[in-house]
Amino acid sequence: MSIWSKIFKTTVPENPDSTLSKRGFKASKSILRIDMDIYFEATKNLFDKETNPNGAFPLNVAENKLSWDILREKIREVTLKNEIPAWVAGYTSGMGAPSFREVVAQFFSKFLTKCPINPDHLVFSAGATSIIEMTAMVLGDEGDVVAFPAPCYPVYKQDIGNTANLERYDIVTHHDISALNNGPILKTIHLDTAKKEIENAGKKFKILVLSNPDNPTGGIYSYDHLIEITNWCLENKIHLIVSEIYGLSLINTKHSHIKEDYSTPIEFVSFAQIMSQKQSDYLHLWYSFSKDFGISGFRVGCVYSLNQLFLKAYENLNYPRLISNYTKWVMELILQDEQFIQSYISINQQRLTEAYVVVRNTMKRLDIDYVPSRGSLFIWADFSRFLDGNTQNAENDFWMEVYKKTNILLTPGEGFGHSKKGHFRIVHPYFKKEDLEIAMARLEEYILTKNN
Ligand SMILES: Cc1ncc(COP(=O)(O)O)c(C=O)c1O
Repeated sequence: MSIWSKIFKTTVPENPDSTLSKRGFKASKSILRIDMDIYFEATKNLFDKETNPNGAFPLNVAENKLSWDILREKIREVTLKNEIPAWVAGYTSGMGAPSFREVVAQFFSKFLTKCPINPDHLVFSAGATSIIEMTAMVLGDEGDVVAFPAPCYPVYKQDIGNTANLERYDIVTHHDISALNNGPILKTIHLDTAKKEIENAGKKFKILVLSNPDNPTGGIYSYDHLIEITNWCLENKIHLIVSEIYGLSLINTKHSHIKEDYSTPIEFVSFAQIMSQKQSDYLHLWYSFSKDFGISGFRVGCVYSLNQLFLKAYENLNYPRLISNYTKWVMELILQDEQFIQSYISINQQRLTEAYVVVRNTMKRLDIDYVPSRGSLFIWADFSRFLDGNTQNAENDFWMEVYKKTNILLTPGEGFGHSKKGHFRIVHPYFKKEDLEIAMARLEEYILTKNN
C-alpha cells in the first residue's frame, strides 16, 4: 500500500479475529496523526545542500533544531566533568527525584514564571504527552469534555482520549484568520456557548486548555485576557490548564523586518503568577522541555498545581510514565548553570526570530494570510484560495500536491478543529536559516505557478 492511501484510507474490519482486547485492537488501527508516517519517510530523504539538493523539507513536526549545537556541547562538558551520583541508579519518588524538582523550581522562577515556585507542587512525567494523559485521567471521568480554542494542537484528542476517554470540543471563535492579528480572541461569551452546547448534549464541561504561546497560531494571551478567562472558569468550577510548552520560544516582535505586524504590544506573562494570586484547586500549568530546548527525545514534562489531592493522585498513578533518572541528572546539571541558560534562551530566540522572518516574508510576498506569531515554532497560514472547495478532501489533496511537487511537508490542517479549510502550519526552526531560504524559494516558485 502506498503511503498516500495508507494515510487517508485506513478502515477497521468489522469482525476482527483478534487476540487483543477491544481496546488493543482499536489501538492497533488508530494512527496518532495523519502526517507521521510521511514525516519519517521525508526524514530518510532530508535536504542537504551538497549531498541531496533535491531532498525533502519536513516542516510539519514541532521540533526546533536550531540550538542543539549549543546544548550538545554543554551536555558533553557537564557529563565529562561530573561523577554520576548514586541516586541515579535507583527508584525515586513518583513525583520526580527531589533534587531535580528543586532545580526545575529554581529554573522556572528565574526564567519562565518570574514568581516563586514551590518544588512540592511540581510533578514530572515522560514528556507533555504523558502529563496531558495523566492530567486527563486524574481530573476527568469517562465522557467528560475538554475544550480547546480552535485551531489547536490535534494530538490533544488522542492524549485525553486514548486512556482517560475524555472528549475534545473545539471552540470556534472565528473563520478568517485575520481575526487573530492581535492575538487570541476567546471571550467568555464563547465559553458560555460552549458550556451550553456541551450540557445540552448531556455532557460535563470539565476542563479548558489554553496554549500560551499558542500552537499553531503563535498568539499570546495577555495578562488581562488570562484573568478574564480564569475568573470565568472559577465561577463555573471548570479546571483551567495553561500549557506553557512554548513559553521561552518567543519571537522578537521589535525586529525591523516584522515590527509592522504588531500594532498592539502583548507581553508573555506566566499563568503561574495568576495561580499564585488565586490559590485555587482549579488552576494548573503544563510545561515540557521538548520545544524550548529542542529535546523532544529526552521526554521531560511537568505539571505545576496547587491542588494537593490532584498531586497525590498523580503521584500514585505516575510510575509507568516516569522520566529516567539519568536524564533528570543531566538536566539538573544544565539547568543549574544560570548564566548558560540565560545565554541559551537569548541565542535561541534570536535564531527563532530569524527563521520566522524568512517564512513570514515568503507569505507576505505571496499575499498569503498568516497570523503574526509572537511565540512558538510556527506560522499558521491560509492557503484556501488554492483549494478546489472548502472540504477536507480538497485540503488534503493540496497538502499532498505541495509535497509531491516541492518535497516540502507542511502540517496538514486536519484535526486542528478550524472551520475554514486550507490552513497549514509551517514549522520554521527545523532547518538552519540558509536551508530554510531554499525551501521557501521552492514553495514560492510552486505557488506562483498556481497563481498563473
Ligand atoms: C501543545 C503541545 N503539547 C504537547 C506536545 C507534545 O510534547 P512532548 O514531546 O513533550 O510530549 C506538543 C508537541 O508538538 C505540543 O505542541
